[in-house]
Formats: sequence, C-alpha cells, structure tokens
Amino acid sequence: MNEFIQSLPKVELHLHIEGTLEPELMLKLAKRNGIKIPFNSVEEIRDAYNFQDLQSFLDIYFQGADVLIHEQDFFELTWAYLLRCKEDNVLHTEIFFDPQAHTERGVLFDTVLYGIHRALEKGRDELGISSKLIMCFLRHLDEESAFNTLLKAQSHKDKIIGVGLDSTEIGNPASKFERVFKQAIEQGFLTVAHAGEEGPAQNINEALNLLQITRIDHGVRCSEDASLVKQLIHERTPLTVCPLSNIKLKVFDCMEQHNIVLLLRQGVCVTINSDDPAYFGGYMTDNFLAVNDAHPMSKTEIAQFTFNAIEASFVSPSEQEKLR
Ligand code: HPA
Ligand code: ZN
Repeated sequence: MNEFIQSLPKVELHLHIEGTLEPELMLKLAKRNGIKIPFNSVEEIRDAYNFQDLQSFLDIYFQGADVLIHEQDFFELTWAYLLRCKEDNVLHTEIFFDPQAHTERGVLFDTVLYGIHRALEKGRDELGISSKLIMCFLRHLDEESAFNTLLKAQSHKDKIIGVGLDSTEIGNPASKFERVFKQAIEQGFLTVAHAGEEGPAQNINEALNLLQITRIDHGVRCSEDASLVKQLIHERTPLTVCPLSNIKLKVFDCMEQHNIVLLLRQGVCVTINSDDPAYFGGYMTDNFLAVNDAHPMSKTEIAQFTFNAIEASFVSPSEQEKLR
C-alpha cells in the first residue's frame, strides 16, 4: 500500500510557502542576508519545533520567515518545495503566501511575489507541475492592513487567483474581514479561509456565511455540529485538511483520533494537504502514509482524496480533465 500511496498522483490545496522553509535553507539565508536567528545548527532548529498550539507554532514560523529578504530567496524557497512535489508525484499545487509577514518588515510586495512566481513558472516548464497562488491576510493584523495588501494585488491578478485568511484564529473572527473579502470578490478573486482548526464549528459557519468562501482550510471541527456536516456533504464544500499539522499543533491527541477518514466515509469532500511541511515533519506522501497507518483504507478510498482535490481545485474544468 505504501508504494501505491507514493506513486499516487496528488493535488495539494493547502500549503503555506513560508512553511516549507527547511532548517538548512533557513541557516543558509540567515548567513547570506546577515540576519540573526537564535539557532546555530539544523539540530537546534529542529529541537525548537515542539509546539503546544497554533500560536506557539506561528511565533516560530514568523521568526523563520525573517530570513527571506530578496527575490532570489523567495525563488529558492519555492523551487525547493516544487522539487519535493516532484518526488511525491504532486501534479498540481495551490500555494498560500503571507505578504504581510514580509511587507511589515520592509520587504516589498513585488519582491515576494516575483520570486515565488518565477519559481512556479519554472516548475510548470521544467517539472510539469501546474500551480495557483493564493494571497492570505494575517488575521491578527487589522482590516486596514488587509485592505492595503489587497490594493497591492490589484496589478497582479494574472498571478494571484484568490485570497485567504490565516494566522491566529481564536480572537480574530471572520467578521473582522467581511468587508475586505466582499471587495476581493467584487474584484474577481476567489476566496478561501482557515476556519475550525483551533476555533469551534461556529467559525466555519461564519466563514461560509460572512466571507462567501468556496472552500474551507482545515475545518476539522465541523464534526461538533451534525447539521453543518450535513450541509458540507450536501453542498460539496471542500475541506483542505492537514493531518500531520493537526497532530503537531494538538488539534487531535493522535492520528487515531483524527476524523478525516470518518469525514471521507460520511461523504464530505475532504482532501489531504501538508500545510507547513518543514515545521510539521512531512510533505504530501508523509501525510497520506500517516493517515493510512492510523486508519487503514482501500485503494479506492485513498484515491478519492485526489479526486476530491481535483474537484476542489481552482483549475478550469478543461484543465481538471487533464488531471483525472
Ligand atoms: N493555521 C493558521 N495560520 C497558519 C497556519 C495554520 O495552520 N500555517 C501557517 N499559517
Ligand atoms: Zn494553513
């Protein structure tokens, strides 16, 4: 079964490019850019990756992102991720980036975007991996900062397909960004949002109703509301679930307790994704293997995750046919 999983064509829909920064590249960029980080070795960095919850991870994640300064840094970061995609037979990937994590430090929006975009084009040409780019607003920052970020994306609609919402869920409700998302939709951006990762099922309802999103990032706490699960099944609203992330951030105590396979068998359009693989200890294949180890599945069930991801992706119907 492990060979079947390894060679299964995959589609990733929930991946923060800043979360693919491996310790080796972090050290290299810190040195190259003269940025002080509180670690001296790869081992010290990996030892620090013991998270109690989402916030304890985010603190380390933003600190890591500080080493990214130049367009070339963002290019190398993205290219390294695409090479991992190739190993895992990921055919298509929809990537988040957090512009505010960089513009807040004085790095230009265009520096970030052009570095990532150049690698994605090379990935398409040389590796045959198709991709889309989604710009996330940091929900711990205010509405004005999100509006400013949306403004910067105006002239890049050819490179950015949608907007999302990430960072600290608890204390930063969807309602804070209702007007930003309304404007983004009017401007033609597709929309997604993290909801029901650490926060309750009600946050998923709010994201669906207030932000008009077409897919939910995480959403695993939907199981606390039976009528919501029914609605997700009925409307085929996709959930981009990140199993290893959920264990590392203690959303579930262990993989045996994770609800992803139950949701799949209930008929929810769930997908498997890696979120921040450099921090959570696994890329796409690792996530599939970890789920199947704890919840043995048939080949048909495992392949259903890829079919769900194709259905949930932002590629056009004719492009979808090519992935099937
Ligand atoms: N949740 C919220 N924000 C994030 C995450 C996540 O899992 N990863 C990177 N930013
Ligand atoms: Zn995420």
